[in-house]
Amino acid sequence: MATLTIIVAPDPRLKITAEAVASVDDDVRGLMDDMLETMHAANGVGLAAPQVGVAKRVIVIDVSNPDDPPQPMRLANPEIVWESEEMVGAEEGCLSLPEHYADVTRPERIRVRYLDGDNQPCEQEADGLLARCIQHEIDHLDGTLFVDHLSSLKRNIILRKLSKSRKQLAPA
Ligand code: NI
Repeated sequence: MATLTIIVAPDPRLKITAEAVASVDDDVRGLMDDMLETMHAANGVGLAAPQVGVAKRVIVIDVSNPDDPPQPMRLANPEIVWESEEMVGAEEGCLSLPEHYADVTRPERIRVRYLDGDNQPCEQEADGLLARCIQHEIDHLDGTLFVDHLSSLKRNIILRKLSKSRKQLAPA
């Protein structure tokens, strides 16, 4: 396993539409394991392949409490097949938008269809943090960041701050 570099916005690689995988083979499984290691190292609860520069429809999630045993989820080609009419707002962050948080409104419950780490077709209903996390990560596969759900004013403030802090970090 290896820790990968997480791309920070604004970056064109975060705006692409990722390609479906043909199947979850050893390469995809290796990517999923590297992504889980990267996500855990960064104290994240979800990570999508485009965030590590891979344009594939692969996401990993672990919403378990830090004090409990990890519950890693590996999802390829995830697709939301049902969502509740009830919407709920909650604060979101993103490893590609470090140190920025905002309220995002999304369907409260969803049903997601995907291939798991053993290439088995699965369907799962989710609510709460898991439902929110799955929707946030699937957004990444279509080039959507959580700030894209905000007003353009709020979005531009966050993206401008990130651009500015990157310029300060960059070597002269
Ligand atoms: Ni994110």
